[in-house]
Amino acid sequence: IVHTLLAAAVGYLLGSIPFGLLLTRAAGLGDVRSIGSGNIGATNVLRTGNKKLAAATLLLDLLKGLFAVLLVRWLFVHPDILPQAAWGPVPVGALAAVLGHCFPVWLGFKGGKGVATNAGVSFGLGWPLGLAYALVWLAVLGLSRISSLAGMSAVCAAAIAAALLGYVAYVPVLALIAVLVLWLHRANLKRLADGTEPKVGSKK
Ligand code: G3P
Repeated sequence: IVHTLLAAAVGYLLGSIPFGLLLTRAAGLGDVRSIGSGNIGATNVLRTGNKKLAAATLLLDLLKGLFAVLLVRWLFVHPDILPQAAWGPVPVGALAAVLGHCFPVWLGFKGGKGVATNAGVSFGLGWPLGLAYALVWLAVLGLSRISSLAGMSAVCAAAIAAALLGYVAYVPVLALIAVLVLWLHRANLKRLADGTEPKVGSKK
């Protein structure tokens, strides 16, 4: 239990680094929270018009999720001692990283929507899960050009892939993350239903 709590702390701290905000500020583009959807993720950083910064945000938000899971596994999981439980250090660290991104204490708990961070987390939990995530994300993005739709599809795909590919211990956490990510996208879902959700590349 101590290991699991420490894993949660490590995951949360790494996840809560708001790369989108830090990068846009460092580039002198002001506060990304004051434009577009107000989100701190790569999709909204792209609305500053700076593609490289958006790509860097995507990559760094992904890497912090991946790094959190790998670090927690390295620190707290000794295969001979701890069995892989659904609420062991690794899945709890993964969940905490996404929670850190979505609810960072440094930003008054108003963070991102978890899509990039959960991509990294999925790769960390098992590369086939990350692959499923990436393929669905790219496919839906390519077909629809709608970032939120691609992200939500990928998040669900990771949970389904975990169930189908034998990562049973990670299904509860990935399903919980999927519910959280869908909930954080409720404004996007409404716009999707209304047909007003912007496509990637448009400024709104
Ligand atoms: O990951 C966030 C993306 O799915 C939607 O972002 O800024 O359009 O709400 P945004």
